[in-house]
Amino acid sequence: MIEIVRGDITQQEVDAVVNAANSSLLGGGGVDGAIHRKGGPEILAECRKLRASRYGKGLPTGQAVATTAGNLPARWVIHTVGPVWSKSEERAHLLADCHRNSLAVAAELGARSIAFPAISTGVYRWPLESAAEIALAAVRDSSMELIRFVLFDDNAYRVFKAQFASGEAG
Ligand code: APR
Repeated sequence: MIEIVRGDITQQEVDAVVNAANSSLLGGGGVDGAIHRKGGPEILAECRKLRASRYGKGLPTGQAVATTAGNLPARWVIHTVGPVWSKSEERAHLLADCHRNSLAVAAELGARSIAFPAISTGVYRWPLESAAEIALAAVRDSSMELIRFVLFDDNAYRVFKAQFASGEAG
């Protein structure tokens, strides 16, 4: 089931929440800042370990990796790195990869529910309509029990809702 809600990703009572991270895995603003602030230092400690082991050069764009969710209501945070919007270069496949790879990591952990923010639509400037279309298409055939998109403001919520409705009609 796919759900579109307005809200804060850090408050979601799901198995896994997705973080719109950057490749350093060491935090930032927006969703990333909120997750580390509310989740506490355990998340950053695990991110540092990942940087010291598997991801010495950082997490590549489009890939996903899990850590504890610390003090968040979720069990895991799945960190993924969205593409920065580019007018001249087609990067939609990387945004789709973020969603598919996050779902694959979640499924491997045994998660049955997952919440996504609108990856790349903040600091990374991806246009909302396009991001909604790519995100919804990427998760459409997933067997995850619950996939929830959590939109922070009214406009993003409306855009995702409309895109979801048009996808269902098509
Ligand atoms: N819950 C849900 N959505 C949120 C929250 C929140 N607490 N805070 C912000 N958002 C929304 C923003 O309004 C935006 O639509 O999440 C969307 C993604 O925005 P960003 O967090 O800026 O993510 P992104 O565009 O992928 O940029 C990633 O930002 O902070 C850095 O470390 C991060 O460098 C990375 C970059």
